[in-house]
Amino acid sequence: MSKFTPDNKLDLFFSADLISPNVKSQLHPDVHIRPLALTDYHRDHLAVLSVLTVVTDPGEAAWQEQFHVMRAAPQTYYPIVIVDKQSDKIVGVGNVFIERKFLRGLGSVGHIEDIAVDKNQQGKKLGLRIIEALTYISENIGCYKTILNCSDANIPFYEKCGYQKKENEMAKYA
Ligand code: ACO
Repeated sequence: MSKFTPDNKLDLFFSADLISPNVKSQLHPDVHIRPLALTDYHRDHLAVLSVLTVVTDPGEAAWQEQFHVMRAAPQTYYPIVIVDKQSDKIVGVGNVFIERKFLRGLGSVGHIEDIAVDKNQQGKKLGLRIIEALTYISENIGCYKTILNCSDANIPFYEKCGYQKKENEMAKYA
């Protein structure tokens, strides 16, 4: 029996109306795309993120505190997840962070961050759908561009998602 929790039973980070209907319709019926929910700590959110980088489990209370702190910044973070309906577990994640500027007529830029797909689910176009959904959010909010940083190995993936290499990234780790 499916353990799937529908959107109307969840405390979602932002309105599900911002999820692209086109992306929804192209997803396999076994999976569902939606905003991150307050109870997603229990749906393997951190396990999926650990596919990307080092993840330290802060415990549920601290995870939920971070959720609330991020959500308190209005129209800034748009974290999304793809859930496997059978298990009700997360299989893909991503976020677009909206940066407001003084230039370009008080324009905004969407920064795509923290994309990860469960190792067993890679190669099924879930990553592509996550990028399409985040780009849709960014463009609907009115961002004049959407950008991201990635490794050389991931350039072909982002090109498949319609992105082009532009300029360089600089970093200084503390
Ligand atoms: N090299 C070449 N092509 C690739 C690669 C790659 N590394 N990854 C995917 N593709 C291609 C696929 O073959 C597919 O092509 P097709 O349309 O011709 O069939 C297309 O890109 C779409 O691929 P998806 O199936 O949607 O990719 P997937 O669901 O596996 O997700 C992702 C890709 C997110 C990179 C996944 O492999 C992953 O989680 N990797 C580990 C974490 C990671 O590197 N995340 C990105 C960090 S960058 C950031 O967060 C901004």
